[in-house]
Amino acid sequence: IMISKKMTTALNNQVTAELYSSYLYVSMSAWLKAEGSPGAAHWMGLQAREEVFHAMKMYNYILDRGGQVKLGAIEAPPLKWKSPLDVFEAAYAHEQKVSALINNLMTLAKSENDHALEIFLQWFVTEQVEEEASALDVAQKYKLAAGQGAGLFMIDQELGGRALSAEVKDALTATLTAAD
Ligand code: FEO
Repeated sequence: IMISKKMTTALNNQVTAELYSSYLYVSMSAWLKAEGSPGAAHWMGLQAREEVFHAMKMYNYILDRGGQVKLGAIEAPPLKWKSPLDVFEAAYAHEQKVSALINNLMTLAKSENDHALEIFLQWFVTEQVEEEASALDVAQKYKLAAGQGAGLFMIDQELGGRALSAEVKDALTATLTAAD
């Protein structure tokens, strides 16, 4: 079944929103690196790539359903935060906004009786629970460390150990290869 025009526009807006998330996290990563938190910068850099993965997942879906991909303008992200805690609190707030966008897409899919799309969007609904939880988890760690040097150092070391999942790595490689 061909996807509706309205739904295609909504999905295209979400592709742009996911790419904005990537842009935001790249900006956060740069600030963290410059501020002296290389582990957190690494974590955010990987998060930025996860967002490209989300965008491409939706992009491929639009194409699979015979829709037209229309990329929108991506606004400039903020450049500065007060502390690593501030960064992760902002990331958490941002993910809550993204969850609301995904929920709206699901509501629209349901209103159009587009069951295939509902099933596709379920992955994003589940992913958003994870996305919110991981940003909140890091924010809570920073809160507990309360700006103390040793605690901050340990958190940064831990965040520096994050690795991309095989699924994301493969999908990003496939996307880049396909674009060649
Ligand atoms: Fe694409 Fe962080 O949600």
